[in-house]
Amino acid sequence: MKLGFIGAGEMGGAIIKGLLNSGWPKADMGASVHSQASAERLSKQYGICAGTDNGYTAKWADVILIAVKPGVVPQVLEEIAAADKKPVICMALGWTLEKLQAALPGWPVVRIMPNTPLALGEGVTLFAFGASVSAQVRQETESIFARLGKTVELPEALFDAGTAVSGSGPAFVYYFIDALAKAGAAQGLSDEQSLTLALQTVVGAAKMVEHEHISPAELAQKVATPGGCTAAGLDVLKTTGMNEALDKTIGATVAKAQEFGKK
Ligand SMILES: NC(=O)c1ccc[n+]([C@@H]2O[C@H](COP(=O)([O-])OP(=O)(O)OC[C@H]3O[C@@H](n4cnc5c(N)ncnc54)[C@H](OP(=O)(O)O)[C@@H]3O)[C@@H](O)[C@H]2O)c1
Repeated sequence: MKLGFIGAGEMGGAIIKGLLNSGWPKADMGASVHSQASAERLSKQYGICAGTDNGYTAKWADVILIAVKPGVVPQVLEEIAAADKKPVICMALGWTLEKLQAALPGWPVVRIMPNTPLALGEGVTLFAFGASVSAQVRQETESIFARLGKTVELPEALFDAGTAVSGSGPAFVYYFIDALAKAGAAQGLSDEQSLTLALQTVVGAAKMVEHEHISPAELAQKVATPGGCTAAGLDVLKTTGMNEALDKTIGATVAKAQEFGKK
């Protein structure tokens, strides 16, 4: 199956990298981007064919992946419309199935929201499928991303909420790791030591949540012996409003995603 990327920056590049790592043949991936310089960089970095002609990419590919900024999508949709109808996967924020379908009537359109850990095979990709998407296309498009982590189908009404948690989520987790490391450094650890400890703790704790069959809240309770030092720290987290801060963080992200959807 030949995958044609239209746009291959931060997100498209992460997908290309992840797919190559998973064994997807280079010859079955192509990309078109805005500038010749980016096309040359992509060819050099990943060994895939890359250029600047979106119409060509659309005709060459079996499946088209749109990974440009939301504002560039209308132009891209116009440029690809001359190709034969084929599955189009769009990951641009705010591009609903309705808007995609209006630009490409009768095409099988798929809306996704990936995240950058896909590059390491540890991503999450949210899916919503247009009405004209067959069971086979559903299976084929989902199986591309299943190689790069977890895939989750969501009703479109929940797409913005999902986007906030997993699409934007990596930034929130990076921020947490940074804050944990800085707090350790403030207690005398070197910056490097503290970052190593914070990072491996987040990786290890995430794996514990994945493998233990109890909720993360119960796990937190389990490691906090009453009267002990972890309990003393947890009490501060609970009372200084971490939950409220995260509620507001996710709320603001959802609100911004909704604004993009209305454009
Ligand atoms: N970054 C994330 O974590 C993330 C997560 C989920 C979804 N997304 C979505 O992914 C999309 C891309 O975001 P990004 O962060 O990857 O952006 P980005 O790093 O700025 O990459 C944009 C890409 O689009 C190319 N491009 C610009 N104009 C084009 C045109 N007319 N035709 C073809 N290609 C064109 C750029 O090429 P040049 O390099 O030549 O300019 C670049 O390769 C957005 O819609 C965003 O909502 C991003």
